[in-house]
Amino acid sequence: MVKSKLLLNQELLSQKQSKKKQLNQLQNQQLKNQRLIKMRKEVELASLEDTKKLAKELVKLAKPGVFFLMSGYLGAGKTTLTKSLLKELGVEESVTSPTFVIMNQYDNGSLNINHMDAYRLTKNDDLYLYLETPEQDFNIIEWYDNVDFDYDNYKNYKINITKTGDTTRLVTIESRD
Ligand SMILES: Nc1ncnc2c1ncn2[C@@H]1O[C@H](COP(=O)(O)OP(=O)(O)O)[C@@H](O)[C@H]1O
Ligand SMILES: [Mg+2]
Repeated sequence: MVKSKLLLNQELLSQKQSKKKQLNQLQNQQLKNQRLIKMRKEVELASLEDTKKLAKELVKLAKPGVFFLMSGYLGAGKTTLTKSLLKELGVEESVTSPTFVIMNQYDNGSLNINHMDAYRLTKNDDLYLYLETPEQDFNIIEWYDNVDFDYDNYKNYKINITKTGDTTRLVTIESRD
C-alpha cells in the first residue's frame, strides 16, 4: 500500500516534470519564432487591380533560390496573385492552376520559375521529387504547409491571403533571416 502510493507519487512528479519541460520547449520555440520574424507586413487589397499592384512590388523579391510560400483557403487568390507575378516576370504563356498537375514550370529567359500546388500532397511527399534545383530557381508554392520541407534552408516569404469580401483581400507577408 505504502509502496504503491510512493510509486504513484513518483509517477505524478515525473508527469509534472515532463509537462513542464514540454511547456518550456513550447515557450522557447515561440520566443525563437518571434525573434526570427524580420519583416511582417499587412496589405489590404480592395480589388483585382490592387492584387496586380502588389505583384509589381513582390516581383522585386523574385530571385534564384527564393520561395514564395502561399497560404489561404480555396478561392483566396493564391493562383491569381501568382498569375500576376508571372506576368510581371515576363512569362508570356498562359498560366493555369497546378492543382492537378502539382507543378508547372516557366522560363522567362533568365529565370526558371516553379509554380507548385501542394493541395493534394501530404507530409509523406517529398518536395525534392518536384523541385530539382530550387536553389537556382524562383519557387512559388501554394498550400506549402501540406508538406514537410525545411523551407528555412532557403530565403522565403510567407504570403497569406484572406478573403474579406467579393474582391477584397487581406494579405500578410512575413520573412525571416
Ligand atoms: N483582389 C483579388 N485578388 C485575388 N483574387 C480575386 C480578387 N478579387 C476577386 N478575386 C477572385 O477570387 C478568385 C481567386 O481564385 P484563385 O486565385 O484560384 O484562388 P486560390 O488559388 O487561392 O484557390 C478568382 O476567381 C479571382 O478572380
Ligand atoms: Mg490555387
